[in-house]
Amino acid sequence: MRNKILKYFRDAGKEFVSGQQISDDLHVSRTAIWKHIKVLKERGYIFESSTRKGYRLIHAPNLLTELELNSVLTTELLGRHIIYDEAMTSTNSVAKEAARKGAPDGTIVVAEEQTGGRGRVQRGWFSPYGKGIWFSVIWRPTFAPQDASKCTLLAAVALIRAFRKMGLTEAGIKWPNDILVHERKLVGILTEMDATMEEIHYIVMGIGINTDVAPVDLPEELRGKATSFMMEGVRVVRKELLAAVLVELEALYAEAQRDGFARILDEWRAYSVTLGREVNVIMPNETYSGTARDIDADGCLLVDTPQGTQRVMAGDVSIRNRTRE
Ligand code: BTN
Repeated sequence: MRNKILKYFRDAGKEFVSGQQISDDLHVSRTAIWKHIKVLKERGYIFESSTRKGYRLIHAPNLLTELELNSVLTTELLGRHIIYDEAMTSTNSVAKEAARKGAPDGTIVVAEEQTGGRGRVQRGWFSPYGKGIWFSVIWRPTFAPQDASKCTLLAAVALIRAFRKMGLTEAGIKWPNDILVHERKLVGILTEMDATMEEIHYIVMGIGINTDVAPVDLPEELRGKATSFMMEGVRVVRKELLAAVLVELEALYAEAQRDGFARILDEWRAYSVTLGREVNVIMPNETYSGTARDIDADGCLLVDTPQGTQRVMAGDVSIRNRTRE
């Protein structure tokens, strides 16, 4: 009901609406409406009230709560079930727990802040309050477990599409799934899965997007390595960006289940900043250098080295700076 009341005020725009009018239209008592407005006020919504005309909404908090997201979401599946908290250790951990307990396909888990944000290869993920979009999506796809690693590439494509629509045109993908702008990291993706050999139980796709992180916010070790929308001079409203990302993720998720990943991998190639570059591949037991030529149908990186072509399934790849000619 709170969602409906909020939507009512949003639809009314600058107009005042009386308690009686809402009560008649939404078939709920005036006392109940008054109670909902009280809760909304506690959550940061500001209403102007007039004894004669009623109320109008003059400010909504810049948060990623269910109430706020519902005002912008246009997806059919993704985000129709939302788990939100101001602070979580890690949205991926909460999502895995929810998935184990049966959370439906397309559930999203969102926090304003992560106190134990997790990155790839046991790294942490810097996730300060309100300065980024820290979220995870639960998927229960019909495709085979062998296809799951390509979901990460799919997510990177979805993000680039959404970013372009929001005015950030210079982002590219570093294999497998870092989104970089001018060689600095804007987004990280951490995909985790629970499956048998035959069947995926769930995939948790965790995405961290730096939106409002300023240079002074960054810990020493990230200076010069991380960037944000703000640092790139592109202003975004977090809930709108998240809604745009979910639209693209939903479309590509449906495509992958219907038609497979081939076309999506082609799009990934077009956005890649890795292909054609000299790279260092850092594996647990060895490091080698070569030219990143392509990705194969499984999304593995093909690196041409003097010893032949290496097929990289996982590992850290760093792009070597071009030497001056
Ligand atoms: C990387 O190392 O590049 C991956 C970083 C992934 C960070 C996101 S933020 C939301 C989700 N929850 C986590 O704990 N990690 C992912």
